[in-house]
Amino acid sequence: MDQAVNPIGVFDSGVGGISALQAMIRLLPREHFIYFGDTANAPYGTKKTEEVIACVRNVTDRLLARHIKALVIACNTATGAAAYTLRRELTIPVIGMEPALKPASELRKNGDILVLATPLTLHQEKFNRLMEKYGEGALRVPCTGLMELVEQENWKAAQAYLEEVFALYDLKRVDAVVLGCTHYVFLKDMIRRMLPERIAITEGSEGTARQLKRVLGRSRLLREEGEGTVELQTSGAPEDIERMRRLLDRAIPEP
Ligand code: DGL
Repeated sequence: MDQAVNPIGVFDSGVGGISALQAMIRLLPREHFIYFGDTANAPYGTKKTEEVIACVRNVTDRLLARHIKALVIACNTATGAAAYTLRRELTIPVIGMEPALKPASELRKNGDILVLATPLTLHQEKFNRLMEKYGEGALRVPCTGLMELVEQENWKAAQAYLEEVFALYDLKRVDAVVLGCTHYVFLKDMIRRMLPERIAITEGSEGTARQLKRVLGRSRLLREEGEGTVELQTSGAPEDIERMRRLLDRAIPEP
């Protein structure tokens, strides 16, 4: 059977990965995507690594049962915790995400880079290695509780949260802000308006979509014809699917 017609599995702890899914749909409109939001187990970012690996294994098993041809971990936290394990265990391509520190370091002049992410992402070994390579002037900014506000679509509270965070830093010294959690990408517009124009904002959704396309192309797994589809699934309640659908329809400014 031609595996290229099979769906691509994409997952996150909740609605966050939908920001990356939007970029994937734009770049690969012929593909079938199954998006799984593990809302029953969210958030991942305040769990232990082993707990996240256990959650990810469950999600992956459900997606593998649907004969996915590739897996996208649309979550920085889950990538840091489980990408290595999944790549060892699975035979299909596994695409992960990491905070977009490299592009931020290229845009940096002499100032600081703020990396907004979950506590678990910022404490992982994988992130330490990224910091060693590209982290000159980068400051870790754990945003505990911010993903929950995106899950609740509570944009007002998210704005107040971010105002408090940015008030802790001398923004005159900041060159770039990295949105190192897929949930925060839904706040990109808001953050853009809060920060001076000259501060760059980087995030990984476009890069992840491009990487997915490269990997599928290399493995001869690109779907060449027909129209794509998106199926939404959750470990949570039926209302979670409605929230996912709303966020899928919500425009995020392209870079
Ligand atoms: N969206 C996830 C990420 O990119 C994490 C949110 C969470 O579950 O804490 O890191």
